[in-house]
Amino acid sequence: MIIAVDGPAASGKGTLGKRLAEHYGLNHLDTGLLYRAVARALLDKGIPLQDAHAAHEAALRLDFSQLDENRLRGREAGDAASIVSAYPAVRQALLEGQRRFAATPPGAVLDGRDIGTVVCPDADAKLFVTASAETRAHRRWLELSAQDPALAYDSVLEDIRRRDARDSERATAPMKQAENACLLDTTGLDKEAAFRAAIDLIEAELRRIQ
Ligand code: CDP
Repeated sequence: MIIAVDGPAASGKGTLGKRLAEHYGLNHLDTGLLYRAVARALLDKGIPLQDAHAAHEAALRLDFSQLDENRLRGREAGDAASIVSAYPAVRQALLEGQRRFAATPPGAVLDGRDIGTVVCPDADAKLFVTASAETRAHRRWLELSAQDPALAYDSVLEDIRRRDARDSERATAPMKQAENACLLDTTGLDKEAAFRAAIDLIEAELRRIQ
């Protein structure tokens, strides 16, 4: 079984993806980490993010089993990821690996921006998880301000809006709800309520395709 979970930054899709994978006994891949790792490789070597060729090389070299989530989280890598993820060659280099991961038994939950539209268009269930920009910025601010107490909410909101625009306006595999994806708006829902709502949507979808 393959479950696609797409949506904008800080919509809660990562947490949800992890819990859904546990619930259904599936593997889980946070595909945002792939783009963050490509960006991190450039940042670490002082290579400009505008160097599409270097980004492509980094994507070709990426080992999916060596993603260090702690090092890849954070604002800088997230923003940089949304720049390198717009390069078609980078997306192409990461496509096969994602599809192989999804096809490995017993199946997987993949979360990202283009899982239901490009990576796994035949997924058994697809969710598009969203929330208002203000709600998402507040969640991200709570997460980040634990390490950086001086961080202003307004600058996080600005980051979120800039990233939404970049991700939805790019020409290759833009972020968008797949035609057959179920919309889950988590504005006003806590993690538990979002999980329950996701299960209800997925179960209804699985019954429908049986
Ligand atoms: O965790 P957060 O929602 O902030 O971001 P992420 O899922 O880690 O993704 C970081 C960036 O990678 C996004 O802003 C996208 O530009 C890019 N990305 C993508 O293009 N396609 C995906 N399937 C996943 C992420």
